[in-house]
Amino acid sequence: MEKKKNQLVDKIEKAKLGGGVARIEKQHAKGKLTARERVNLLLDNGSFEEIGILVTHRTKDFGMEDQIFYGDGVVTGYGTINNRLVYVFAQDFTVFGGSLSETHAEKICKVMDLAMKTGAPLIGLNDSGGARIQEGVRSLGGYADIFFKNVMASGVIPQISAIMGPCAGGAVYSPAMTDFTIMVENTSYMFVTGPNVVKTVTNEEVTSEELGGASTHSTKSGVTHLTAAHDVDCINKIKRLLSYIPQNCEEKPSDIPFELGEEYRDVLEDIIPDSANKPYDMKDVISGIVDVDSFFEIHKDYADNIIVGFARLAGKSIGIVANQPMSLAGCLDVNSSKKAARFTRFCDCFNVPILVLEDVPGFLPGTDQEWNAIITNGAKLLYALSEATVPRITVITRKAYGGAYDVMNSKHIGADFNFAWPSAEIAVMGAKGASEIIFRREIKAADNPEEKLKEKEQEYAELFANPYSAAQRGFIDEVIMPRDTRRKLIKAFKALENKVAKIPRKKHGNIPL
Ligand code: HXC
Repeated sequence: MEKKKNQLVDKIEKAKLGGGVARIEKQHAKGKLTARERVNLLLDNGSFEEIGILVTHRTKDFGMEDQIFYGDGVVTGYGTINNRLVYVFAQDFTVFGGSLSETHAEKICKVMDLAMKTGAPLIGLNDSGGARIQEGVRSLGGYADIFFKNVMASGVIPQISAIMGPCAGGAVYSPAMTDFTIMVENTSYMFVTGPNVVKTVTNEEVTSEELGGASTHSTKSGVTHLTAAHDVDCINKIKRLLSYIPQNCEEKPSDIPFELGEEYRDVLEDIIPDSANKPYDMKDVISGIVDVDSFFEIHKDYADNIIVGFARLAGKSIGIVANQPMSLAGCLDVNSSKKAARFTRFCDCFNVPILVLEDVPGFLPGTDQEWNAIITNGAKLLYALSEATVPRITVITRKAYGGAYDVMNSKHIGADFNFAWPSAEIAVMGAKGASEIIFRREIKAADNPEEKLKEKEQEYAELFANPYSAAQRGFIDEVIMPRDTRRKLIKAFKALENKVAKIPRKKHGNIPL
């Protein structure tokens, strides 16, 4: 028996060394942690239970039968994060560059199935040279098995992908179909075709970092929702993200204890400038409303004319979608519509109530926008908010003009409570633009057209650049003082806690993709 026990110990020790000491040192020299180090950092101390540590590949081609590494390049299992069960896989770059073989894929599929069966989040730590070249189509099949399971799990359990090394070729499509992607700066990249292929096909010279590094995907493409300075930062951000979301679509996010006090916030009174054309930072409004330091922004550097992220209000998790007047005057455009629609759908999948903060002068005009399908893309946000059945509240801080008024969680598309500040302007368009159109003849005929325009602008503004016609019709439930916003929202979300809303029975809707 002793001999047999030693045999097991020996195998486990070997497995824990992955591709060996030299390759571990190489990994560290690149500023990267190993798969096991990452998993241990991610999970509560001592909570990790590994599954399939002794799995090996079955390939005999290219001398592979002589290169056997226990675990086959991926560490899989379960554990807890702040006492919550999660399933995890971490690709081990020290074994065949973390490349995906048939058996490596089977291991990932096993934890995906378990996560689904038990209603627990799945976290994937990606660090891989892609398809195991020695295995050919068996590897491609393994990828497709994972893709299919990603889609089946979508909307059932939260799926989070960290990119902590290479992620190239078709491999990118698994993270792309999960709910959140986080990339580590300087050590990770994602692209469908690498710099060499790009050079051959288009003659463009580009580095891996420029083509698909963290900063590219966080600013230009929006492929990644978050970035991290290094592996430890990445792991910490995954934990923070997870804290706002529930285990699965049948559960609500967990609350953190909160003592209600005097919830007026005077800081909100002085944010809106006197001139409607002056920008202000919507993040000041957010931090004035939510619990201290609770805002966790998603897609921070992408389409910054809209802000999305999670926060806590009296200890409860909410999702925020807010126009940002500091960028493009807060206009909705193609990218901001896509960004906000995607976030809205996540919140709706996983029972996170939505707060919309609105200051929007309309959709961004121009050929660039029209040719890039602002019609279809704007419709995404309209559709996503319309079908969301979670509690939904809007606060109009200033402008709510035109179609954007309808889109930004108006009463008409199913919002539960719509509040406006006294500074709100709810109209078809701004006073100047409106006057130039409807009083064109009168202005042209005037002795002093400029003076006349100003006079008409004033007239229009008095009639419409306020929240009161909307409040008279019940499109706004209440005009509230800024300082009272937090208190009102806490009460309103509480009142909506047991909301039940159903959409008509259907196979699934057809969101304008
Ligand atoms: C098998 C691989 C591998 C792979 C790397 N290795 N990628 N083994 N299949 N795909 C091995 C290397 O042979 C090496 O083994 C070890 O991993 C580390 O690789 P290095 O090249 O030394 O590391 P580095 O210099 O950091 O370069 C990393 C890399 C490079 C850029 C990822 O390895 C690379 O270009 N690999 C090939 C990438 C690729 O073309 N993959 C297929 C893409 S197509 P030793 O023994 O020396 O340690 C694809 C299709 C998916 O993935 C389709 C899904 C639908």
